[in-house]
Amino acid sequence: MSRWYRFMYRVGFRPWEQDAATLAPQFGALVAQEEATREPPYGRALELGCGTGRWSVDLARRGWQVVGVDVVPKAIQLARQRAREAGVEVTFVHGDATALRDAGVGAGFSFLLDVECFNHLNDAQRLAVGREVNAVAAADATMLLLVWSRARRGPFPPGANRDDLTTAFPGWRIVDVRPYEGELPRPLKNIAPRWYRLARS
Ligand SMILES: C[S@@+](CC[C@H](N)C(=O)[O-])C[C@H]1O[C@@H](n2cnc3c(N)ncnc32)[C@H](O)[C@@H]1O
Repeated sequence: MSRWYRFMYRVGFRPWEQDAATLAPQFGALVAQEEATREPPYGRALELGCGTGRWSVDLARRGWQVVGVDVVPKAIQLARQRAREAGVEVTFVHGDATALRDAGVGAGFSFLLDVECFNHLNDAQRLAVGREVNAVAAADATMLLLVWSRARRGPFPPGANRDDLTTAFPGWRIVDVRPYEGELPRPLKNIAPRWYRLARS
């Protein structure tokens, strides 16, 4: 999978960013919900599969202390550029979400974000992500994931359902599920993405 993403970043084709404008209001509302129970500065946030940093930079603008990690070096390069241009400080780390400790992302994260990274991973990778997340997340952390609905789609991402999430993240509860409100390109109309909010308990 990372080879496919390396190729996509190299040729500059990033269709998953096309919903940036239509998804921004929902993203803002979901993060506002996280912030409602905290005092600014809100604390440490970790974005898994941060890509070019569109959401990490947004979080940093809102007062989070953000680390973004992605397995593709070009994505990290573009993310650093985005943060520089936005005038915010974000730590972008080249690394694998299945090996967060090896990547040196740090620990004590009170909020974790995954916008369509978990979505792509196979079962073994998902278990590894869960193990790593448990090692770097604070005891009272929350997590927001955007995943496609679970289905067989050949080479396309398998998506995930509630069971996939509870299996991958032991010690976390699903506390909220919301339909995605961004605009998808027509061929993807049936993927029915959802936001899952999880709380560590
Ligand atoms: C659909 S893109 C979404 C990027 C970003 N979250 C966004 O919404 O713009 C999925 C991202 O996950 C990254 N990715 C895939 N597998 C990964 C892994 N094992 N560890 C870290 N990043 C990964 C890809 O390089 C890609 O940037």
